[in-house]
Amino acid sequence: MNQTLRELVCAMPKAELHMHIEGSLEPELMFEMAERNGIRLPYASVDELRRAYAFTDLQSFLDIYYAGASVLQTERDFYDMTRAYLERAHADNVRHTEIFFDPQTHTARGIPMGVVIDGIHRALQDAQREWGMTAALILCFLRHLSEEEAFATLEQALPFRDRFIGVGLDSSERGHPPEKFARVFARCRELGLHLVAHAGEEGPPEYIRTALDVLHVERIDHGVRCLEDAELTRRVAKEGIALTVCPLSNVKLRVFDQIHDHNMLELLDAGLAATVNSDDPAYFGGYVNDNFVALFDSLPLTREHAQRLARNSFAASFLDEATRERYLKEVDTFFASA
Ligand code: HPA
Ligand code: ZN
Repeated sequence: MNQTLRELVCAMPKAELHMHIEGSLEPELMFEMAERNGIRLPYASVDELRRAYAFTDLQSFLDIYYAGASVLQTERDFYDMTRAYLERAHADNVRHTEIFFDPQTHTARGIPMGVVIDGIHRALQDAQREWGMTAALILCFLRHLSEEEAFATLEQALPFRDRFIGVGLDSSERGHPPEKFARVFARCRELGLHLVAHAGEEGPPEYIRTALDVLHVERIDHGVRCLEDAELTRRVAKEGIALTVCPLSNVKLRVFDQIHDHNMLELLDAGLAATVNSDDPAYFGGYVNDNFVALFDSLPLTREHAQRLARNSFAASFLDEATRERYLKEVDTFFASA
């Protein structure tokens, strides 16, 4: 990729719509928290931990990701983790971010819901005040657990209803189809929450269809396997359902062998509203600009694709109309003078 295009994708204003806050916990901060909280990690050093980040599939990652989250104990821990992510995002010219969190990973260890939400929320408020960055939280249900447990989690979160805008579905995809959570998503819909779900990452295109038809989600997280089903692809394009794609994650978790094999160009050519996101940046080799650079380095993507991806990221956000339009105008102004 030429230098100008690299600078362009890094400098352009963008939104991030698929990032798990627990996946932004860098090994250095993880060890610092382990120390101050008196928790023993099963790794002797930061280097040893980093060497363990050699994943073969989604589950091999999740095992390490949940173990890493065990160092998070106090409101300050959740604040510090979120603050560190927001600083990286701000440096990558992220103007707006919609952040996933996994409350069950913490409440199962006896950490109160309020500690989790308050710590994250306070960091979002600081970013808004200091940089004008907008941010929102999406609560994810762990799909390897039961729907009853998801209902119980929703109950625990409702006292903090004004601090999250929607719900999602993550963790082990295969064998845990979206329809397993039909009733809890129906309840969330009644509550006026936005709905998203991971689908078509490792799971089949059918999971994308049931996420849309049974859960009524507004975006699909990942969704790269959509292209295996031509009729579904046409439908997702026609309905303007956005896909929050995570290129470096897809390579690390072996959805694609290498970044050169990624199907982002085909997704865009099929008219899909694809976006670029970092998923779990501390585990997958980088933040959102690293994902843009890897993609534009490896695929014949152009300046027009860059503008489209930046526009898609805001268009697919859950921002109010006026703020979304303001950001879209900022993208167009940026490209008009860049
Ligand atoms: N897929 C499913 N669950 C997850 C992921 C992912 O990419 N990241 C964190 N939890
Ligand atoms: Zn994800």
